[in-house]
Amino acid sequence: MSHSISSPSRRSVLLGSAGLITAGSIFRFPTPAIAQGAPLKVGFMLPYSGTFAKLGKFIDDGFRLYVEQQGGTLGGRRVEYVQVDDESKPESATDNMNRLVGRDKVDLVVGTVHSGVAMAMVKVARDTNTMLVIPNAGVNEATGPMCAPNIFRTSFSNWQVCEPMGKVMFDAGHRKVVTITWRYAAGQQMVGAFGEGFKKAGGEIVEDLALPFPEVEFQALVTRIATLKPDAVFAFFAGGGAVKFVKDYAAAGLNKSIPLYGAGFLTDGTIEAQGASANGIKTTLHYADNLDNPANQKFLSAFKAKTGSDGDIYAVQGYDAGALLNAGLTAVKGDWSARTELVKAMRTAKIESPRGPMSFNAAGNPVQNVYLREVRNGRNELVSIAGQAVNDPARGCKVS
Ligand code: BEZ
Repeated sequence: MSHSISSPSRRSVLLGSAGLITAGSIFRFPTPAIAQGAPLKVGFMLPYSGTFAKLGKFIDDGFRLYVEQQGGTLGGRRVEYVQVDDESKPESATDNMNRLVGRDKVDLVVGTVHSGVAMAMVKVARDTNTMLVIPNAGVNEATGPMCAPNIFRTSFSNWQVCEPMGKVMFDAGHRKVVTITWRYAAGQQMVGAFGEGFKKAGGEIVEDLALPFPEVEFQALVTRIATLKPDAVFAFFAGGGAVKFVKDYAAAGLNKSIPLYGAGFLTDGTIEAQGASANGIKTTLHYADNLDNPANQKFLSAFKAKTGSDGDIYAVQGYDAGALLNAGLTAVKGDWSARTELVKAMRTAKIESPRGPMSFNAAGNPVQNVYLREVRNGRNELVSIAGQAVNDPARGCKVS
């Protein structure tokens, strides 16, 4: 899988009836009206540039793949797309979201990757009662204190994928651990959740290291880890930043003496670019490349046939956003205005995802397995189930 930053291809524009959005502007290619009535207008608000560009592209590809497998429809409604490049910039997020909802009049928004951007999107979605399906960003508040009937996630909460790692690392014999991440919501919440699990098990966090998002000057922090000599390191980075961190860690020789663990984003979608530097890294995530279930086999071969790339967690989350909307729309026979029934069908949906069984809690966050994986032979291979049907506590959510 190439790590190069890719924007939607000419092919996807021609075949996908969608337009490419550059920073701060939206161009939409019209889709002809078809017999079954007005198409469902899906707004993608995703990073198509910057350190998370590949993540956004794979979510977009995964969603389109699911829709194509339904003959270009969801619940019988033909789908058209509007795309916005959110650049992973929280400061532009409210304007971008308002443009999709107000000017482009999308029926729903699928987005995004970055937790800070997602927080702004959640606020607009709540204010305008717009349906929002989050296909990555793990910010706990989205399905915590900011939860609402119109907000769903097909990914994870930052707490959910990291808390189980605390016990895993303690059971592996590690007692003193250093954490390292970007200083923004996702990094702080993931490191916090890992620390919660690790301290509960009896471990000690020696030092929390951080640098601003999306900086990649890791050298001083890698040197600090070498000085501290912890039993192990827990890290959250993703996309281009994760590639650089894992390579720098190995280049400093630390992969030989201080085992590196992390949230699965450290090695998902990045593994090919990391090469041998990633060997042996253990992570927790709600997916592993070699999950042996029919949905994963079908997904991986279809994704490869469509894109030429190996599917990863981001593609799975986009694919499952399509599956969730299909479940809701099928229940209301494509009638988007039947909102109460639609939401009920989505909240009670049970999806056989490539990740394994997925259902939803009252806050709209997936209930799902969290897997321990290890990088072997260039793949994130399943080691064990770190947490079965893990349910985020949805702290502060008042929706029932
Ligand atoms: C986040 O900001 O929530 C996030 C970004 C990339 C991977 C995982 C989480």
